[in-house]
Amino acid sequence: MSFSEPLRNKKILIGVCGGIAIYKVCELIRKLKNEGAQITTVLTTGAEKFINPVLFASLSENKAYTNEDFFKPEGSILHIELGKYPDVILVVPATASFISKLATGSASELLLATLLSTKAPVYIFPSMNTSMWEHPATKENIERLKRYDYFVYDPSEGPLACGETGKGRLPEIEEISEVVKAHFVKKNLLGKKVLITGGPTREYIDEVRFITNASSGKTAFFLAKEAYYRGAEVHLVWGLDTFPYVLPKLNCFSKVPFPKVYFVKTTKEMFETAKSLFPQCNISIFAGAPCDFRPKSSFKGKLKKKETLAIDLELTEDIAKILSAEKTEKQITIGFALEERKKLLNYAKKKKKKKNFDYLVANPLDAAGKFESDYVIFTPKDLLEFKNLPKFQLARVLFDLLGS
Ligand SMILES: Cc1cc2nc3c(=O)[nH]c(=O)nc-3n(C[C@H](O)[C@H](O)[C@H](O)COP(=O)(O)O)c2cc1C
Repeated sequence: MSFSEPLRNKKILIGVCGGIAIYKVCELIRKLKNEGAQITTVLTTGAEKFINPVLFASLSENKAYTNEDFFKPEGSILHIELGKYPDVILVVPATASFISKLATGSASELLLATLLSTKAPVYIFPSMNTSMWEHPATKENIERLKRYDYFVYDPSEGPLACGETGKGRLPEIEEISEVVKAHFVKKNLLGKKVLITGGPTREYIDEVRFITNASSGKTAFFLAKEAYYRGAEVHLVWGLDTFPYVLPKLNCFSKVPFPKVYFVKTTKEMFETAKSLFPQCNISIFAGAPCDFRPKSSFKGKLKKKETLAIDLELTEDIAKILSAEKTEKQITIGFALEERKKLLNYAKKKKKKKNFDYLVANPLDAAGKFESDYVIFTPKDLLEFKNLPKFQLARVLFDLLGS
């Protein structure tokens, strides 16, 4: 089975302006190309003062256009041709000066004229000093661009090249490339609510010691991200203390709310939170790794060191089983099974039935914490096997299956 690769063969035109963050465009070109996109660059006059176009031409393996090309007597009208070429246009970094010209409808440069002529969606990534960003003129220009249906991505906060700290940084390249990917992901989950559990839980022995497991939450994170990109309202019940992953805000082009992360510690908390969300969700994915056992009683304070310590354990709530048993005909549940390789298929098949899942994803023990793994997916009808599938691809495969 093939799976979606959102940037494969996509034609992306990057308009580059003369801002200090211009050096980051090199990394952006490489990243998008690695994902299979075809890149063309158009530099403003300001951009040419910072960087020689040869650099972008070499990295993109495509001509880098400058204003010298604007009036070349070559028979075709370049800014019209360039406007027809891309599936999407990015302006990175977008300077205050360029934004003001674009907001007035100026076509005095090749990039401006291309943007006026194009029907392609255009993403603007402003980057400038905080005072420039907060200036009423810039604010008005940005509002105007939004009214003209440009997708303006808010700059980040942090240290700026001028030595100040504040809003105006170009977002990290990873974040920009994620926005572009999200743009191309098919929106087959619009209007759907998705519940995902992720990460391990902790069961306390005393107030500072606990039993846990090696789950990193990666699978749940990639599932949450993919569901968000596909237009779902995502509720992520999360067993780790922090959320160490990049998730771009898509509110510049999407009305879908940013995923809500519910931090929980124990299996009981994960259960209570998931239970309260479950009835309103169309799809529930139990990718969390709740501890199966907890100490029957937890010691108040800190246990003193002893020769040996015996702890009486009891079973915790089986979140996936309890909630999946309550599902209506309109709800879909997806479970996960982590098991020794030789027992995997047999165990997973039984688990799917016993726990009333519509889909079950089985993976071997060594999947925990890794970026990729072997998987067997039990769908309502079939069994699909994957070798060394990255976890982000697993998320695509699953939501492709649900969308078809
Ligand atoms: C060293 C230096 C750094 C600059 N950095 C920025 C910047 O980050 N953002 C910005 O909006 N303008 C910045 N400017 C001002 C722009 O380069 C200037 O407005 C230029 O005319 C923009 O050209 P363009 O709109 O053709 O790209 C900077 C200027 C200099 C000299």
